[in-house]
Amino acid sequence: MSERDTGLPLEPIEKASIDELRALQLERLKWSVRHAYDNVAHYRAKFDAAGVHPDDLRAIEDIARFPVTTKQDLRETYPFGMFAVPRDQVVRIHASSGTTGKPTVVGYTARDIDTWSDLVARSIRASGARHGDIVHVSYGYGLFTGGLGAHYGAERLGLTVVPFGGGQTERQVQLINDFRPDIIMVTPSYMLAIADELERQGFDPRQSSLRIGIFGAEPWTNDMRTAIEQRTGMDAVDIYGLSEVMGPGVANECIETKDGPTIWEDHFLPEIVDPQTGAPLPEGEFGERVVTSLKKEALPIIRYRTRDLTRLLPGTARTMRRMQKITGRSDDMMIVRGVNVFPSQIEEQILKQPSLAPHYVCELDREGPLDTLTVRVELKPEFSAAPEPERVQAAARLEQSIKSMIGVTARIAVEPVGAVERSIGKAKRVIDRRRK
Ligand code: DLL
Repeated sequence: MSERDTGLPLEPIEKASIDELRALQLERLKWSVRHAYDNVAHYRAKFDAAGVHPDDLRAIEDIARFPVTTKQDLRETYPFGMFAVPRDQVVRIHASSGTTGKPTVVGYTARDIDTWSDLVARSIRASGARHGDIVHVSYGYGLFTGGLGAHYGAERLGLTVVPFGGGQTERQVQLINDFRPDIIMVTPSYMLAIADELERQGFDPRQSSLRIGIFGAEPWTNDMRTAIEQRTGMDAVDIYGLSEVMGPGVANECIETKDGPTIWEDHFLPEIVDPQTGAPLPEGEFGERVVTSLKKEALPIIRYRTRDLTRLLPGTARTMRRMQKITGRSDDMMIVRGVNVFPSQIEEQILKQPSLAPHYVCELDREGPLDTLTVRVELKPEFSAAPEPERVQAAARLEQSIKSMIGVTARIAVEPVGAVERSIGKAKRVIDRRRK
């Protein structure tokens, strides 16, 4: 799609040469590392202990000499200890709940909110937004960054925002039918629940007004993209981000290529490291994504270990590099009898079965010394009245494809429509009962 089609022009930096981009990154990187060192005692202590100083940063690659930051650093300094500006300059707080212990708290200055709005606006534009579009936001509002992040970005782009938030699926569908939005921003798993509800109310999702879905906050496969696009007639585009680094809009796919999110490199420097050792990996190799913020004021984040597994790819629709669609988080990796398995691999196999819906959960148990993996999955509504043999055959086919493609034995429980718990935000794909 050309710029003329959307009527929303690119920013100059999106068209800059690699040399211009790298020069800008280096200048901003120097500022960000110094800002962290000068204003956050925790960073200063860590840099000093590692024997590095902001003056050591002369080239972009020198960043690898600096210590990484993890969720643990944010926990140790809970709630506001990582802030690099006086608290009265922080105009917004967000927090992620976290599965254990205290939440991770992040803060923004007025300028940070401005930058974030610009980057989400850029993301929505890259997703194919046009002047006059209506954006229905179903990401949750509140401490989660999804709702407000999407909201400010859509407003910044001059679009009409419907700030619905998560939940009340029946009403979501009513307002989608009545307001006729062009774009929906929501987790891909909740999009499926909305599509189910559209059908339940007797509407064909392909006939809805929605043209574009901007999906993120959880891993989803390219097969899921195809399934959602075929079912809804929308273009499904990937938005990536995390609260520690900003929120949604750290990277976003361009609709003309749909080949993995373009990282907004004028604001975030990406690296890939070995998830076990933390050692930097060469460009193009698969590993854990590490991010350094280049302009953030309230919470500069230096070499944040995201736990997200991906690889860096050269730019296509933009000069800036892309990341391969995230396969999963190192936290979500299941080790089943010695084999590493990600829920996304199971998702790919489910989507190959014509009678199964991609509502699924992976349950891990231990029987004696052995791990067991049970995949609970649902029949599609149109197959719900199918005779018992179809269920049994679908289970057998899925079991066989998981065995041959992934190399693990899984028990398959094909359940009736609605049996797998729906999330209204991020789906929980793994229930591990082995350690309890
Ligand atoms: O999920 C921010 C966000 C909101 C992104 C809305 C996109 C849309 P957190 O709650 O801090 O922030 O969770 C961040 O979610 O480290 C990834 O593991 C995962 N994640 C986010 N986007 C994607 C994506 C928001 N597009 C964590 N693909 C990240 C795969 C994603 N995983």
